[in-house]
Amino acid sequence: MSENTQLTAPGTFDNMFSTEQTEELLRRAQPFIELMMQYECTVREVETKLNNLNDEFSTRYNYNPIESVKTRVKDPISIIEKMKRKNILPTIENIEKNLNDIAGVRVICSFPGDIYALADILTAQDDITLIQRKDYIALPKPNGYRSLHLIIETPIFLSTGKKLMRAEVQFRTIAMDFWASLDHKLKYKQNIVNPEEISADLRKCADSIAELDARMQEIHNRIARENAEQE
Ligand code: GTP
Ligand code: MG
Repeated sequence: MSENTQLTAPGTFDNMFSTEQTEELLRRAQPFIELMMQYECTVREVETKLNNLNDEFSTRYNYNPIESVKTRVKDPISIIEKMKRKNILPTIENIEKNLNDIAGVRVICSFPGDIYALADILTAQDDITLIQRKDYIALPKPNGYRSLHLIIETPIFLSTGKKLMRAEVQFRTIAMDFWASLDHKLKYKQNIVNPEEISADLRKCADSIAELDARMQEIHNRIARENAEQE
């Protein structure tokens, strides 16, 4: 580290912690660092499964049901904050037992039909166990939020053997994703002059988006039917 980028004055860190204290700190952090690495492995495994399915659809049916896959592992501060909200001591065991969304995968599809088809195909894989399914498309949240949420359990393979890991997979259309990102911005914006009016407007947009998704799906189905008839 050059002197310019060092957070503390040169030598300060050495003065603050003895070698033993530094070793103790690292020893205590190690299990958490390993757990985070395991969640990174989990999102990679699930992402690969989805990319493989997309490739297969592309080759077999000349069609891509997935527009994009995004992954993230919840950052340590959000993990601690969530454990605090739940009033649970943030030990490794408690984190694994109580948080299902540390490994997060978001699948953006073109059409609502693709969402259900992909979710069914993914959960039918024999190394995936479905833990929970929340269909906010069939039953949107009061604010208009739509997506299909799955909590799944899937193995990762470590040098010590197989370990079952949980992940949250969110499926939504491009339009639903567009809506959710604006809604997310609203949640984190402070000092909004008329939040009720904005929420009501967003709610209307959510309904328009659902109607648009349904019409796009219908056009897509018509094209597919006509193609099939011509073959
Ligand atoms: P938490 O995981 O504590 O949020 O509660 P939960 O397990 O009941 O969550 P739920 O399955 O309802 O939602 C989990 C995730 O979905 C959130 O972390 C967001 O990424 C997304 N989500 C849920 N509701 C909304 C919403 O109203 N707007 C947006 N933009 N995203 C949402
Ligand atoms: Mg959750």
